[in-house]
Amino acid sequence: IISRAFRHQFIIPEFQSFSKEIEEIYWKCKDNTDGKVASYIPQLARMSPNYWGVSICTIDGQKFSIGDVNVPFTLQSCSKPLTYAIALDQLGADAVHAYVGQEPSGRNFNELILDHNKKPHNPMINAGAILVCALLKTLVKPEMTLAEKFDFTMKNFERLAGGEDFGFNNAVFLSEREAADRNYALGFYMREHKCFPLKTSFRECMDFYFQCCSMEANCDTVAVMAATLANAGICPLTEEKVLGPESVRDVLSLMHSCGMYDYSGQFAFKVGLPAKSGVCGGMLVVIPNVMGICTWSPGLDNLGNSCRGVQFCEELVKKFNFHRY
Ligand code: DON
Repeated sequence: IISRAFRHQFIIPEFQSFSKEIEEIYWKCKDNTDGKVASYIPQLARMSPNYWGVSICTIDGQKFSIGDVNVPFTLQSCSKPLTYAIALDQLGADAVHAYVGQEPSGRNFNELILDHNKKPHNPMINAGAILVCALLKTLVKPEMTLAEKFDFTMKNFERLAGGEDFGFNNAVFLSEREAADRNYALGFYMREHKCFPLKTSFRECMDFYFQCCSMEANCDTVAVMAATLANAGICPLTEEKVLGPESVRDVLSLMHSCGMYDYSGQFAFKVGLPAKSGVCGGMLVVIPNVMGICTWSPGLDNLGNSCRGVQFCEELVKKFNFHRY
């Protein structure tokens, strides 16, 4: 990093002035008080809508963050691209996509539907993510107990984040499981259509899905995970190869087309970057070969995306030429 600095070869050479521009966008978005905090479980309903944090990590390890970047939040659906990435890396794309499709569903993230082949449409919606959890539990190192698989997944999340510790919010996990009628309905519907691999333990697979949603980290940590995706699977902080480049390409392709709920098409059009949002108000945004970004603000629009997070991305591509096209 130091020799690059001397040679003035950073991926963003003027990082300080770049950071100033990010700061301006941050303050502009802070004025946006639109949106409502998720209310389906008490732990999320109690979140202050005032929280607002943005963290950036470039592929050569330059970092900038502003606002509430050290407050932990549960990953919720921001975990979906991460579990999908691990499954791809462990099993290969053909094995994973024998069970889950690659098409946007064009419907709500928790809608009770399967595609024409009786598979969930993609891994970024609930049905697809539940199925990916079943693949991780049943086909990846099948000898592992659920407890071991939880540790394995958390360790992989931590490797993606450059060794940062992850937390687990047990109250959120218990509430998720309690408020999960729709997710159980999706699970049973998929079981009826024989979507799961043989030997799947339904109860363990559902618990594992809720556990992945309940893993906890802050903006700074999630930005490093996004940066690892931006850097083709090599963590910019540790230089460890955590994922293969093919897995990362597949994850980013589906984040691009399906990562922002029913706003994915408009987001791809206006922002042109792979991203994944969650009901926690977090957003994981990837600028391939440049940087990873995490934004977090719990106020959600009526499609379930963080109002400030979406505005931030739209302002970002107005200022900088990051739109892929
Ligand atoms: O499955 C659920 O209801 C949540 N734990 C995750 C929700 C979420 O972030 C929606 N994303 N697609």
